[in-house]
Amino acid sequence: MSASSPFPSADDRAAAVTRLRAAGCVFAEDEARLLIAAAGTPAGLAALVGRRAAGQPLQHVLGWAEFCGLRIAVDPGVFIPRRRTEFLVRRAAALARRAAAPARQDPARPRAVAVVDLCCGSGAVGAALAASLGQVELHAADIDPAAVRCARRNVAAAGGQVYQGDLYGPLPARLRGRVDILAANVPYVPSGEVGLLPPEARAHEPRVALDGGADGLDVLRRVAAGAPRWLAPGGHLLVETSERQAARAAEAIGHDGLLPRVSHSSRLNATVVIGTRPPGLGE
Ligand SMILES: C[S@@+](CC[C@H](N)C(=O)[O-])C[C@H]1O[C@@H](n2cnc3c(N)ncnc32)[C@H](O)[C@@H]1O
Repeated sequence: MSASSPFPSADDRAAAVTRLRAAGCVFAEDEARLLIAAAGTPAGLAALVGRRAAGQPLQHVLGWAEFCGLRIAVDPGVFIPRRRTEFLVRRAAALARRAAAPARQDPARPRAVAVVDLCCGSGAVGAALAASLGQVELHAADIDPAAVRCARRNVAAAGGQVYQGDLYGPLPARLRGRVDILAANVPYVPSGEVGLLPPEARAHEPRVALDGGADGLDVLRRVAAGAPRWLAPGGHLLVETSERQAARAAEAIGHDGLLPRVSHSSRLNATVVIGTRPPGLGE
C-alpha cells in the first residue's frame, strides 16, 4: 500500500473492523464506518478505534449521539441520551402542541410554549422538543458542569438558556407558574442496581446521572414536589421511569396535587409518568 493511498483504504477499513471485533464490538462494521467518517486520516482512525477498543462508549468517541433524528453533541463524562427517551419527547411534543393551540387562537396571548428540560444532561430532550415544535421558549438545567457545557451547544440553535445547579434552584423566578412542559429525565436506577449496569455506563457515565437513591425515585420525588410551583395551570410534568417503578412514581407525582397518569411504549420499552397541574391548584 503506497503512503499516498486515499483514506480510507481497504486495509484501513479491515484493520478497524478486526480490532473492534476483537474488542467485542457486536456491530464492528457499522462502528468502523462511523469512526472512519469521523477520523479523516489513518492515524486519527487508529486513535479512535483504540479508544473504542479500550471500552469507551461509541458516542463518546464520536462526540455525538443520534437522538430523535438529531446529532446531539455528547462529551466524555456526559450521560448518553437513550433511544427509549424519544418516547418522552414524543409525549411531551403532543402535549405541547395542545398547549400551543389556544394561545394561537388568542391574539392577546401569542406566546411560544415554555419548555423546561430539567436534569438536562446533554440537553437532548430540550433540543429534540425545540426541533419538533419550532417556536419554543426553552430553558434547561443540570447540576453537572460538564453536562451544562454540552447542553449549551445542543440548545443554542433553539435559542435555549442553560443553567447550572440543583433542580429548580438555578431557574429564573419569572418562570414560576408559567411552564407548559416540564420534562425531567432524572436519574432513576436504584443505588443497589447501579453496579449491575453495563460496564460502559458504570465506567463512563457519572454516578449522579444514574443513581436515583434507595428505590430510584429520590430525585423524581423532589422534582414532583417542586413542580406545582413552576407549572402553568394545565401544564405537564413528564418523567421517565422503569415499568416497575411507574405506580410509585405516579403516587409521588399525585401527592402534591398533580393529576398523574402512566404511558408506556412496548416498542421502545419506555415508561413515562405524566403529571398535569389542574387549573385550580394553588402553588
Ligand atoms: C439520566 S440523566 C438524563 C440526561 C438527559 N435528560 C437525557 O435524557 O439524556 C440525568 C441527569 O440528571 C442530572 N442530575 C442529577 N441530579 C441532579 C440534580 N439534583 N439537579 C440537577 N440535575 C441533576 C445528572 O447530572 C444527569 O445529567
